[in-house]
Amino acid sequence: MNIVILAAGMGKRMQSALPKVLHKLAGKSLLAHVIERAQKLKPSKIYIVCGYKDTIVRDAFSAMPNLFFITQNPQLGTGDAVIQTLPYLKKNTPTLILYGDVPLVKTNTLQKLIKQAYDNKLAILTMTLEDPSNYGRVIRKDNKIIRIIEQKDANKNERSIQEISSGIIAVPTSNLYTWLKTISSNNLQHEYYLTDIITQAVADQFEIISIQPSHIIEVLGVNDKIQLARLERLYQRYIATILMEQGVTIVDPNRLDIRGNLQCGKDITIDVNCIFEGEIKINDGAIIGANCIIRHTNIGKNANILPFSHIDGTNIGAFSQIGPYARLRPGTTLGKHVQIGNFVEVKNSQISNFSQAKHLTYIGDATIGVHVNIGAGVITCNYNNIEKFHTIINDYAFIGSDTQLIAPICVGKNAIVGAGTTLTKDAPENQLTLSRVKQLSLPSRKQSLKKK
Ligand code: UD1
Ligand code: CA
Repeated sequence: MNIVILAAGMGKRMQSALPKVLHKLAGKSLLAHVIERAQKLKPSKIYIVCGYKDTIVRDAFSAMPNLFFITQNPQLGTGDAVIQTLPYLKKNTPTLILYGDVPLVKTNTLQKLIKQAYDNKLAILTMTLEDPSNYGRVIRKDNKIIRIIEQKDANKNERSIQEISSGIIAVPTSNLYTWLKTISSNNLQHEYYLTDIITQAVADQFEIISIQPSHIIEVLGVNDKIQLARLERLYQRYIATILMEQGVTIVDPNRLDIRGNLQCGKDITIDVNCIFEGEIKINDGAIIGANCIIRHTNIGKNANILPFSHIDGTNIGAFSQIGPYARLRPGTTLGKHVQIGNFVEVKNSQISNFSQAKHLTYIGDATIGVHVNIGAGVITCNYNNIEKFHTIINDYAFIGSDTQLIAPICVGKNAIVGAGTTLTKDAPENQLTLSRVKQLSLPSRKQSLKKK
């Protein structure tokens, strides 16, 4: 089949310099959602009509090889947009037309539409909405679709019709050619409306079929920030419902944001106000506390993520406890039963089973063995303003509070580093190492003044 996506409009009502289709819904641009859904139909090519700031739109998707961009300039309406694609479409296979600002249509709904077009029918995705304002209304006679009328061109009676057109249609391509030749811009917006081909199809006594989606989010379009926010919430609620059906405990489904792909095992609990981004996997029994932001991360079985933790690009082992207020940065791998406490930052480091850093610490570019204790305020000094250096802390070592480890450096197995040490040479195994100025107590000036 041919797939066309209309994305040339500026989206005036968004009040933004960014083309409308690049605004984000659930962390991804509107157009990216449409492309992703279209790609699932495995087309050899997808034709995208762009126009307003077309280079920005093209650049946003330059990595996808089967996208073919066609520039529509000026933008004279959705019908005119499709006319620009006609020279490229294969005539002997149907064309599916998608709107870049209707992001959440499901692939199986699209399949239903295409099937009709293969059967030589015009298929259109419609739905009855409680509030149909601003959508094209479906006019029927004897229950058969005879016309789509745009809100602006509709009279009061027509505006009271609640069945709307999503704009999405599938149609035999040779008919599309013929009908598009007949449309005019004789309407209130002086635009060439794609929806006007319906009237032509009716005149040709062509069979028109309407398909209804299973969920309202499939037909909702985004024209302004209010519709964007509304669709975002509906979509988040929809994802939360799927997770709850799978058995995830979501403390408040209205306070959850998933901007990517969240995979959950059994008996997961997610407290309020968490944001998940990118690819995330949470394994059985894990608990995510309130107000956590988690990206590209794997959370092991029964791990406990306490509130306000910020986690990115990390692998967290089973039974580990993170936070509250922890920051785990990319390249971090934690073993099982690891404890990372409040105001601890870990970057590009491996921390093995049963090790812990529970307070106010920076661990960067380090390899830490098992059962290591990192005291409060310990810092790996990994950077000399030019290069990064590595720290190794071997099994069972104990690093006293307020220690600085000047990398590259190694702490031996079972070593103890005394509190307040600035470690500039390796600490040997099984020994106590400390660098500390001897403590002195001298009479203070204040004391001596008092005596007088
Ligand atoms: C359109 C439909 C309307 C439908 C609604 C569903 C028409 C005439 N109207 O109205 O029936 O209910 O979508 O959301 O089709 N575009 C171009 N080139 C243009 C104009 C628009 O590529 O010259 C693109 C836009 O970038 C957008 C899409 O087509 O992605 C729809 O355009 P928009 O102006 O938002 O149409 P609506 O008024 O929402
Ligand atoms: Ca629209």
